[in-house]
Formats: sequence, C-alpha cells, structure tokens
Amino acid sequence: MKNTAIARLLLKTKGFDISKYDRAFLKKSIQRRMTVMHCASEELYCTLMEQNEEESIAFLDSLLIGYSEFFRNSLSFAVLEKIIFTSILVKKTNSVRKEIRIWSAACSSGQETYSLAMLLKEFKKGEGEEINFRIFATDCSEVMVNDARKGEYTIDNLSNLSLKQINNWFRKQDDVYTVKPELKENIDFSVFDLLSDEFSSPPSSIFGNFDLVVCANLLFYYKPDSQKKIIGKVTQCLTKGGFLMTGETERSILMQHQLMEVYPQSAIFKIAQ
Ligand SMILES: C[S@@+](CC[C@H](N)C(=O)[O-])C[C@H]1O[C@@H](n2cnc3c(N)ncnc32)[C@H](O)[C@@H]1O
Repeated sequence: MKNTAIARLLLKTKGFDISKYDRAFLKKSIQRRMTVMHCASEELYCTLMEQNEEESIAFLDSLLIGYSEFFRNSLSFAVLEKIIFTSILVKKTNSVRKEIRIWSAACSSGQETYSLAMLLKEFKKGEGEEINFRIFATDCSEVMVNDARKGEYTIDNLSNLSLKQINNWFRKQDDVYTVKPELKENIDFSVFDLLSDEFSSPPSSIFGNFDLVVCANLLFYYKPDSQKKIIGKVTQCLTKGGFLMTGETERSILMQHQLMEVYPQSAIFKIAQ
C-alpha cells in the first residue's frame, strides 16, 4: 500500500489506533473492503472512508476477524486432554486452592471456550468425580462476547463434534443448536481488551492466577510490539508452572519469547526455566 494511502487511513481512524496491526494484515483487510465496495484503487477507498462513516465502521469491524471452530487445533486439544489436565490435577491435589482456573482470552463466539468446558466435564465423567473448574472467557468485541454467551450455532458450526457431544451439550430448536445451561455454569463471559493498559487480567477473575491461558489465533494480526505486550500480559497471570495455549500458526512467535513447547507441534507452552 502506498504511504499516502496508509497515512490517510491512519488519519481517518485516529480515534482507533490501527497502527498496532500488522501491515500485511491491514493491506489484506483494505483489499477485502475494496472488493466489497467496488473500489478500483486504495486512494479511492480512502476517499470513500473519509466521506462515509458507515464504511469506516465496517472497515474497523473487519479488523476483528472472529472466525472460530470447536476443537480448532485437534492436536492441542488432545494434548490438553491426555497430558495437561492430568498434570494440573496432580498439582491441585497438593494445593489449598482446588479449583482449576482457565482464561480463554480471545473467545470470539465461544467455540474455544465451550470446547474446553466439554473436555473438562467429560473428563470428570470418565473419572467418576467432578472436576472443580472455572473458565473466564473474554474478547475485546462486545458483539462476540454476547454471541458467545448466547451459545447458538448452526449444524455446520458443529462439524468437529461427535454426535454424542451434540446430544449431550446442545438443545436443538428448528435449525439452531443452543449450548445447554450445564455447559455454561462454569464459565464467566466478559469484555476485555488484551492491549488495555488498565488491567493485567480480566477484572471478573479478581486475581488472575490461571493454570491455563488460551490465547489463540489473534497474535498474527498484530505488530511485534503489540504481540509482545499481549504475551507479557497472559504469561504474567499464569500460576507457577502454568500453561499457555496458542494457535498452530503462532508457535514461532511464542518460541521467540522464552517459552518452551511442552510437546512438539502442540502449541502449548510453559515458561522456560
Ligand atoms: C480469529 S478469532 C480467534 C478465536 C479463538 N481464539 C480461536 O482460536 O478460534 C480472533 C478473536 O480475537 C479477538 N481480538 C482481537 N484483538 C483482541 C484484543 N486486543 N483483545 C481481546 N480480543 C481480541 C477478536 O475480536 C476475535 O474474536
């Protein structure tokens, strides 16, 4: 993108800091909006943004890509189920605080959070004993948080789930599958911006101290400075020996920050000793 075009865009969006986003990601987002708005050049698109408030909003919304899936990275979730949860539970047996605390830090429309809750509820059933856990699910977009809280999905959204999971955890009405209250009971949803300077962890969690933070599929939208800030924030509120799970394509970013992958390709990390 030409420097003049990006300068005009920065000017237009001065109430919202787009300079934190990765340049290639910004360019792709602009090109997507140009196609939608039938704009032949970046210059024309910037002029359109200057004249049209609705398009400014549509562009800023397009930066918060909310795509998600249940059990999005199957290997990470398998490692969570088979290794990580057991390790956290062993730690808990010797701890005063028995509750497992998890932060789903960019929860989008809830698929990641409900996948974690399903694993923990099903784990409990296998062991014949309840697992005491709480998941704090946050996103910077209020729209996403409201969608996540509602927990309404189409059958296409559920394609990674078994029939047993669909029957156990969803209620079907017409073509809408809604998450049952028993899967929501251990989850707190709230709005939280990972780049905010105000709070180090979601206020709803009171003191942070998470055994696991899932911060997946958002780092690659940001420039290295912002990535560093987010990684600093999520690692600082882990308990000693806590785990950080990220997206498959973000593993290399984490490896540059003194984090050690617990199992090859798992995208689950521990602070290196
Ligand atoms: C592609 S979705 C990923 C959802 C889910 N974590 C997953 O892996 O499927 C990215 C989410 O990150 C959220 N997000 C982007 N920047 C954020 C920030 N600074 N703080 C909190 N959430 C953010 C977006 O609103 C969006 O819902």
